[in-house]
Amino acid sequence: MELQSAELDQSALRVLVIEDNRDFAENMAEILATEGGQVRTVGTATEGRRVLAEFGPDICFIDLRLPDDSGETLVAELSRTAPEILCIVLTGNATIHSAVAAVNAGAFGFLLKDMPVDGILASFRRAAERIQLERQKRNLEALLRHREQLAMIGQMSATLAHEIKNPLTGISQALEILLDAVGEPPEMKGLKNSILQRFRNLNDLVEDLLEFSKPLNVRRRPVELSGLVDSVLAELRSENRLREVELKVAIAPEADRLRVDDVHFRILLRNLFRNADQAMEKSELRELRVRARREQVVTILEIEDTGPGIPDELRDKIFEPFYTTKTRGTGLGLALATRIVDEHGGAVSARNIKGAGARFTLVLPD
Ligand SMILES: Nc1ncnc2c1ncn2[C@@H]1O[C@H](COP(=O)(O)OP(=O)(O)OP(=O)(O)O)[C@@H](O)[C@H]1O
Ligand SMILES: [Mg+2]
Repeated sequence: MELQSAELDQSALRVLVIEDNRDFAENMAEILATEGGQVRTVGTATEGRRVLAEFGPDICFIDLRLPDDSGETLVAELSRTAPEILCIVLTGNATIHSAVAAVNAGAFGFLLKDMPVDGILASFRRAAERIQLERQKRNLEALLRHREQLAMIGQMSATLAHEIKNPLTGISQALEILLDAVGEPPEMKGLKNSILQRFRNLNDLVEDLLEFSKPLNVRRRPVELSGLVDSVLAELRSENRLREVELKVAIAPEADRLRVDDVHFRILLRNLFRNADQAMEKSELRELRVRARREQVVTILEIEDTGPGIPDELRDKIFEPFYTTKTRGTGLGLALATRIVDEHGGAVSARNIKGAGARFTLVLPD
């Protein structure tokens, strides 16, 4: 989850002018349009109420004296039913007291009808600023809630993983002793493999959870990237992963020396390779390509697969912890990868490649 841009796009703001003096309303619409707002004008309170729902304005300019209702009533109604809309009442000198009453009833401000263009624009900009602040506040609150939830989930997961880890190791050791004792009858081979596979899955899960919930203590050391990549690929192959996958590794010599924490980097590569492997399960062509090159002061590492790629709408979501589309996934792989890359001062992103498949790009500063 990221904070939205601090800049508010004024041209995306919708403005509704409820004013029965048609000339004045149109004049205002023209002035506001110069700031880029999307403006609609209506002449009565009834029409205003109808348009409110379909147009969804951010700002409403409301005349205090409408033919079918008082603007004050409309403001009070809106501050109850749609408090997010900023209302500015339009008033002449004769109705200045009502304007003050409207502000007390919840209007954001009032605008004198004989105000010059500058005044109208200033009032619109103030409202736009307020909307921006409100949005930032809502954003921050949501971010904070999200962080708190994550912290809580993290703690719970860590406790659970810790509790599972010890018995799991015990069971696995007992199983090995048991298998040694009974020998290996051929009819039991499938069963044994299936048990071992499930153990590995469970173990991966517990390791990921433990890794995710503890603070990362990154120690950067010079590492030979090609060696690290080869060793992770070999490790995955020894676990029966990346079967029938063609590996294409191309690491430019000048990109081969990285300063990273090798323990964490290994976890990061493991997760990306594992994802690629899982994504290609049903593909006819199975290729895992790993490329690295130098560009000025960064090393760029690309990991490509020939799986189905990532649907556009999921491109940001997949990096969130616990987001998974797999029945057996935990959704921690990419969240952990992001954290590791972050701690190295780098960035990770995903995109689809032409044809088919996904590409994960890591940018790592020196
Ligand atoms: N190479 C890829 N191709 C297509 N989709 C991918 C790829 N890598 C990740 N994804 C999508 O991103 C989601 C999140 O990946 P992530 O590694 O965080 O969790 P996971 O693989 O589902 O579970 P875990 O890694 O915890 O076992 C995946 O469920 C999948 O939908
Ligand atoms: Mg994964």
